[in-house]
Amino acid sequence: MISAQAPGKLYIAGEYAVVEPGYPAIIVALNQFVTVTIETSRDYGRIASKQYQENSLYWQRQGTELVFDNRDNPFHYILSAIHLTEQYAQTLGKPLSIYHLNVNSELDSADGKKYGLGSSAAVTVATVKALCQFYDIPMSQDRLFKLAAIAHLDVQGNGSLGDIAASVYGGWIAYQAFDRDWLASARRELSLEQLLDTQWPGLQIELLTPPEPLRLMIGWTGTPASTSHLVDKIALFKATRRKDYHTFLRESRECLQRMIDGFHHQDLNAIQTEIAVNRQLLNHLAHLSHVTIETTLLKTMCDIAEHVGGAAKSSGAGGGDCGIVIINAAKDLAHLLTEWEARGIEPLKLNVHHVIE
Ligand code: PMV
Ligand code: MG
Repeated sequence: MISAQAPGKLYIAGEYAVVEPGYPAIIVALNQFVTVTIETSRDYGRIASKQYQENSLYWQRQGTELVFDNRDNPFHYILSAIHLTEQYAQTLGKPLSIYHLNVNSELDSADGKKYGLGSSAAVTVATVKALCQFYDIPMSQDRLFKLAAIAHLDVQGNGSLGDIAASVYGGWIAYQAFDRDWLASARRELSLEQLLDTQWPGLQIELLTPPEPLRLMIGWTGTPASTSHLVDKIALFKATRRKDYHTFLRESRECLQRMIDGFHHQDLNAIQTEIAVNRQLLNHLAHLSHVTIETTLLKTMCDIAEHVGGAAKSSGAGGGDCGIVIINAAKDLAHLLTEWEARGIEPLKLNVHHVIE
């Protein structure tokens, strides 16, 4: 039996701006995995998952048609990953076959809790990885990122694909998105093989080393949020308030550059200062766009963490899900943890996952 794993992720800073090429974000991979197993079958294939059984479908009416929003349905990411990997296998002359594909996700807990740790990206990466093993296709991290990014983009249609990069490269990364308009034209002009061999304009992935005393804490609010809907709302804001949007982009980039320098210089204070700046920038964007990024509970979580010397902010698109705290490992956390518990904030005891190639 073939088996492959891909980790979930958490955004540390640079959210929303990172959707545009040239604007960095910092992301970490976590030791919670999606595992895909594949075994050959003779007559029919099956795609199954314990966690994805009772998925609801979202739809809107357009005249007489029901139009489905597939972006929050993991099965569509699996299907898209299969489609692309098999297309690639064919270009390499591999004979296609029939199989049972099983998905087991630690990122969607059995009791239906969704933590917002990037399960759609991890499921896409794990499916591409497993199928490449199954068809005996060698895969570099660069090619894996590109195949999984296309598969993911074909379903979600927006987003930076930073979660795919975190899932492929592991550890702490500074990520800048490729130019999606370029990819759309390149896909019309180039074969899949050429596309994977080409350098994608704008794409930058740098591995970062956090300073020794840096400790990452994660607080879960218990409320799930839809990233794709929140990104759509910010795209509407972009269309109507171009100047404000560009100010946000510029300030986010400057903040992230200083934060990345903080990593280069192993300077925990500088990183913490910029986490606080990024929180303010996102709050300002939320205010201007009327999109709730830092919910009341996320605000409480951050305020408690700041009170004991941590730097804290919402993670990812916000609107629920998780918040992060960057704090000196020497600090006593007892007070923070009791306060969080009293407010219904659950600390997730996860660690950063490093990929050994
Ligand atoms: O909510 P998350 O953890 O999926 O993160 C979304 C981050 C955004 O920058 C808002 C969108 C993106 O695709 O980068
Ligand atoms: Mg989220």
